[in-house]
Amino acid sequence: VPSTTPQQQAESPPPTEPALLAACRHRQTEVPVWFMRQAGRSLPEYRKVREGIPMLVSCTRPELVAEITLQPVRRYGVDAAIFYSDIMVPLKAVGVDLDIVSGTGPVIAAPIRDAAGLDQLRALEPDDVDFVTEAVRILVGELGDTPLIGFAGAPFTLASYLVEGGPSKDYARTKALMLGDERLWGELCSRLAAISAEFLAVQVRAGASAVQLFDSWAGALSADDYRRFVLPYSRQVLSRIAELGVPRIHFGVGTSELLGLMGAAGADVVGVDWRLPLAEASRRIGRGYAVQGNLDPAVLAAPWPVVAERTRQVLRSGAEAPGHIFNLGHGVGPQSDPEMLARVVDLVHAEGAEIRAE
Ligand code: CP3
Repeated sequence: VPSTTPQQQAESPPPTEPALLAACRHRQTEVPVWFMRQAGRSLPEYRKVREGIPMLVSCTRPELVAEITLQPVRRYGVDAAIFYSDIMVPLKAVGVDLDIVSGTGPVIAAPIRDAAGLDQLRALEPDDVDFVTEAVRILVGELGDTPLIGFAGAPFTLASYLVEGGPSKDYARTKALMLGDERLWGELCSRLAAISAEFLAVQVRAGASAVQLFDSWAGALSADDYRRFVLPYSRQVLSRIAELGVPRIHFGVGTSELLGLMGAAGADVVGVDWRLPLAEASRRIGRGYAVQGNLDPAVLAAPWPVVAERTRQVLRSGAEAPGHIFNLGHGVGPQSDPEMLARVVDLVHAEGAEIRAE
């Protein structure tokens, strides 16, 4: 609710507000927990239902999407579901010829490198993703009080796949286009912003209670370049969602130097990777924002006492922010042991409120 201050909100907490939404609005007592990529390859029940079904096909089957989205909620008792889909789904839906290759990621048939390439990007109409509307409706019915987080890719991260043609280490072609043809870059990112905003709006209209904008690869940029070439377009996406009244989480990897700008782009919550303690991240972002994160996913491979101590460290550091949603610093890896994630959830639920109150 952007028209009231956090303090005004704190005076009148609705009695049954889910912990995730309370954290977004700076009035939590519990610490909510969910995991990026909680639905996916680390779960045997996911691999079973996905058998023989290509990733992008699986995203178009509402009953299957609902099942996969619910799997981690059932198994872990996390405080939010993340919609099972992909940042590439809306691009596929407007007709971009692309695939998601297992073990590689998104692959684009005809990478966009000139003005003619932009013709691949028409506007997204809600009808293009009817299967999303249907899946969200099923989920909201089944989830009860557990919030569903909708998501989309931010313009920079989407552009990086479209321009490179696939995953990249240095984003050389993307930066070349950005720096070499600012007009074309602007047109590309404006179209992507409109597509992402519509994809999020579809999810919210169907019942999602919060959204996360993934700018996973924005950390490749300096703050100056982020401010000039990226922030205006991410702001377009986030400001459209502000009109819908749901909390907005804004996340990227390697963004320690960008956190303040990512908040200013129009987020309520800024996602933080594992490189910076949350207390320091929160100082950089400012008191107006909650934080989400940030256990290093690699820590999950350590013995439990180490995982437990690191989890408590994240809780203590997060307690210095006005709001804290516990998560990993990036997604669950395919090799992660589900048992370890279950223990982390239990620990956050058992000790989170007390550590926060200290
Ligand atoms: O559980 C969830 O987080 C919900 C579903 C979700 C997926 N992708 C499903 C998926 C979400 C939120 C995403 C977002 C996404 N997709 C991002 C941003 C998040 C991040 O991790 O930074 C990005 C960059 C993508 C693009 C993408 N799609 C990549 C890099 C990959 C992995 C490629 C690989 O195999 O290593 C995908 C495929 C993908 N998206 C899978 C899942 C479950 C794996 C598909 C499979 O092989 O089974």
